[in-house]
This record gives sequence, C-alpha cells and structure tokens, in this order.
Amino acid sequence: MTEIIKLNNINYTVNDTKILKDINLTINEGDYLTFSGTSGSGKSTLMKLVADMISPTSGEILYRNKNIDDYEATDYRKQVSYCFQQPTLFGETVFDNLAFPFKVREQEPDSELMVQKLKLANLDESFLNQKVIDLSGGQKQRIALLRNLIFTPDVLILDEVTTGLDKTNKNIIHSLVMDLNKNEGITILAITHDQEELDDSRKIIKVEDGRIVEDK
Ligand SMILES: Nc1ncnc2c1ncn2[C@@H]1O[C@H](COP(=O)(O)OP(=O)(O)OP(=O)(O)O)[C@@H](O)[C@H]1O
Ligand SMILES: [Mg+2]
Repeated sequence: MTEIIKLNNINYTVNDTKILKDINLTINEGDYLTFSGTSGSGKSTLMKLVADMISPTSGEILYRNKNIDDYEATDYRKQVSYCFQQPTLFGETVFDNLAFPFKVREQEPDSELMVQKLKLANLDESFLNQKVIDLSGGQKQRIALLRNLIFTPDVLILDEVTTGLDKTNKNIIHSLVMDLNKNEGITILAITHDQEELDDSRKIIKVEDGRIVEDK
C-alpha cells in the first residue's frame, strides 16, 4: 500500500477556539474513507485542511511524502479536488462552469467531454446550455461535482455531495464515485450523514468535537 496523505498532530484553532485537536491520520492510495460525526464536529474543516484551502495552526500535512506547503497551490488542487458542501455555480450557463477546468489548464473547452460527463450524472446534453438560475438544487449539486471530474483528480474529497438528492440520483452519484475508486484507483474521502452510504462504507472515520474518535 502506498501512502498518499498523512496528517501529523494537526491542530486548528480560530480565535482561541480549538476546532481540530491533535489529528493523526494516514490515507493510502486507493482508499475510500467515509467521515461521519455530528454537525459542527469539524469534518468540513478537516477536509478543507487536506484540500489546502486553510492551513493548520500546528502540525503538518504530507502529500506523497512532501509537505503540502511545498506544492504550488494550483497544482495541488488539480490532484486533490474538494467538492464543497454548499456548491456555488458561476457564470451564466452550465457550459461556463464545465469550461472552467479547461481554462485553468489553458486548454480549449471540449464540449464532447462535457456531455460525456453530464451523462454520467444522469443529465443529458441539453443541460450544457441551460442557465444556472434555472437549475434545481440537485442539478446544481451534480454539475458542481462534475466540474471536479472533468479532469480526474488523484484524491476526490466529497463534502456531503449527495445530501438533498433523491434516491435515484443518490445511487447514480454513489455508483459513479465507487467506479472512480474501484476502476481508476482514485482515493475518495467522503463526508456523509446518509445511513445507507455509511452502511456501504468499508472504512468509517468518526469525528467528534474536533477529534477522531473512531477509526474502523
Ligand atoms: N473560520 C471559522 N471561524 C470560526 N469558527 C469556525 C470556522 N470554521 C469552522 N468553525 C467552527 O468549527 C466547527 C466545525 O465546523 P465544520 O464546518 O468543520 O463542521 P462539520 O462537522 O462539517 O459540520 P456539518 O455536519 O454541519 O457540516 C463549527 O463549530 C464551526 O462553527
Ligand atoms: Mg460540514
């Protein structure tokens, strides 16, 4: 097993409030870890640290045996991709959003690839020119996720991305993510409150009051 991410004695404090306390965690390449725990326990904060969106107060985070501070942020985010709990779409259309990953890579947007990805999330090609303001909440959520999947990252962090989806779409997203893990070896870190997803999980990491309390 190859170690991909390691958290050593991570603490995260904001205005004297300790949000994360002495977190130690080793993640191997190809792992599928599910994070659970009560609201406010620190799950999203932990994921944002791993995604290098915030920095720990103390401790270190290693990615492929190198401190994440030693990577260029834009480069790191291509490899470790975080899907927000509250997705925000920008621009006018779905196309504008799915074109973004191409722009960061200085590539021409590939509409065919976009349509291919849309289909994976149960959305047909007509969505490409749909206006963002006309989309339902669940459609927005799926498009935000696809934005992270236009170019497949090495580590995909999913922050409650299936919350609010109906059963059919929940299952579609779940199989899509499972497929990325099993067939492409993508490392998945998924936060969920969904009992079914928890039942299906191979490894659950429980976060309580800023600590990892259970790691099974
Ligand atoms: N920048 C910040 N400033 C102040 N408090 C913060 C900050 N970031 C997070 N917190 C607090 O840290 C705690 C953990 O927040 P976090 O978003 O990680 O929880 P969570 O486990 O993801 O909860 P949920 O299940 O509701 O999404 C909360 O009490 C939150 O208010
Ligand atoms: Mg959260």
